[in-house]
Amino acid sequence: MKWIMRGITMALAVSLFAPVVAAGEDLFDPPGLMLTWRDDPLTTMVIDWNTEEERDAVVQYREHGEDGEWMEESGESFPFPYSERTVYRVELTELDPGTKYAFRMGEDSREFSFRTMPLNAARPIRVAFGGDTRHDQDWMENTNRQARKLDVDFVVWGGDLAYADGREDRLYRWKEWFDANKNELITDTGRVIPILAGIGNHEIVGGYITSHEDYEQTDEWREEIAPYYYSLFAFPGQPGYDVLDFGDYMSIILLDTNHSNPVAGEQTEWLEQTLAERTDVPHVFPVYHVPAYPGHRDFDGSVSELVREHWVPLFEEYGVQVAFENHDHVYKRTHPILEGEIDDRGIVYIGDGAWGVSTRGGHDPDEAWYLTRMESKRHLIMAAIQGRTHVFYMIDEDGNLIDTYPEMTGITY
Ligand SMILES: [Fe+2]
Ligand SMILES: [Fe+2]
Repeated sequence: MKWIMRGITMALAVSLFAPVVAAGEDLFDPPGLMLTWRDDPLTTMVIDWNTEEERDAVVQYREHGEDGEWMEESGESFPFPYSERTVYRVELTELDPGTKYAFRMGEDSREFSFRTMPLNAARPIRVAFGGDTRHDQDWMENTNRQARKLDVDFVVWGGDLAYADGREDRLYRWKEWFDANKNELITDTGRVIPILAGIGNHEIVGGYITSHEDYEQTDEWREEIAPYYYSLFAFPGQPGYDVLDFGDYMSIILLDTNHSNPVAGEQTEWLEQTLAERTDVPHVFPVYHVPAYPGHRDFDGSVSELVREHWVPLFEEYGVQVAFENHDHVYKRTHPILEGEIDDRGIVYIGDGAWGVSTRGGHDPDEAWYLTRMESKRHLIMAAIQGRTHVFYMIDEDGNLIDTYPEMTGITY
């Protein structure tokens, strides 16, 4: 009887207090919420949001599941280009690796969580790669949803993000882009999935440095032709390419394929040094926009040729195993390629950027010597990394497994 009474009392309590819980809807729910890194992913986190509402650039945080004191960190705020919005950016540091934290933008804010990356790759790590994210918000949300369901640690996009081309009249595309992430890149437990975003032709007025006669290799000039990109993303920041090291197990290199930096010259010199310093890292992944081995466009496209001439020999010399390419709006996987020929010791190029865009027809693998797989499907590429091994699962926007590398049959992911 006591138990029954307690049950009834509980039920009453729940129904009495339900409206109070619902009042949580009044909490500040940050638009434009985006997490990324610009420093050590094991011990830091950059938390961005953008809103028209005037706020303090403050984040409160504590270990998830604890009810101790909130710690507090403040950051910076600056204008969202061509917009009434302000970008708020707070970087948390001195965090513990492999740890889940709760955070909020002050006492009146909805609560979220994030996870720092682990010290090593002893447990499986999942990263979703792709690019060309928003022709259509619904398409972007479909593929985002698959990344969310896979509970990936973070996503990496290799350019052509919102398709705003640095233009004021396309501001709405960025708003849709941020909404797509808010809607589908936060897990059911409230964990916000971090994003690394490289640069593509649609981040830039004119697409490429070659369309600007007044081109200068300066921060000011790059910011002028790509105002959204250089404001909205803490990483890579200027000059538009950088590397992020995850302990000693993984390095992700974001590169700029002639959009706001020339492929050749300073960037290539930097790439050589960056690769040379990481030959002991088991998972080194270059990510860039225009493909060396295009799935849809011509093999002798000028930027593809630049990438093959300047970067591919470095990838080969310093032991890269897989590179991620975008821009062609298909799913493609190449044979392993070494010195321009199919070779088991070579590099596999996976792409080609169809996260949330209308897809194109691709080259027939029977006719393009370098291709082994081709699909005109929106997709993500999930890297599952553990120890020194990595396996890639290609998943379409509906959650179907369309390819794996290495090739496997009869498996689930
Ligand atoms: Fe694109
Ligand atoms: Fe593109």
